[in-house]
Amino acid sequence: METKTIPFTYEEYDSPEELQPHDRDLLSCAKEALKNAYAPYSRYHVGAAILLGNGKIFTGNNQENMAFPSGLCAERVAIYSAAANNPGVAIKTIAISAHSDKFPVTEPVAPCGSCRQAMIEYEMFQKQNIRIILQGDTGKILVIGSIESLMPLSFRENGLKK
Ligand code: THU
Repeated sequence: METKTIPFTYEEYDSPEELQPHDRDLLSCAKEALKNAYAPYSRYHVGAAILLGNGKIFTGNNQENMAFPSGLCAERVAIYSAAANNPGVAIKTIAISAHSDKFPVTEPVAPCGSCRQAMIEYEMFQKQNIRIILQGDTGKILVIGSIESLMPLSFRENGLKK
């Protein structure tokens, strides 16, 4: 028996001013995008902004539904929109932010498991890391170097492509 460890490293910033300008801009886009969320049930608004290799930015926000499971998270709205309109173009970075009508969101909001699964598909396919920038309304900002680091030992089966 051998005990193994998978390291997890990320950067933590105290404010957007400390970020590289392009990361700061992308986080602003995510905060702008969350204003258009359709979240009448949770009153929890999530915004995601994606920077592509061609320089374009695609945004998304959570879209809820009265049949609850039919809604979709901001990250998947953004990544599917980006991929649908830019096939084959690398996804560089995704910034995610959230705001609640009910309480201050002071901690970074990390993507749910289903969104991680959706995002890692593109990361594997493009063979290039997707960076992730997370912040709540306020508070510390996390920058993570890849989706894989958020999802160690993820499902992969290249045989399915055959
Ligand atoms: N939500 C997202 O948009 N992204 C996540 O990663 C987690 C949760 C949305 C789904 C739902 O509309 C609301 O936040 C509350 O769960």
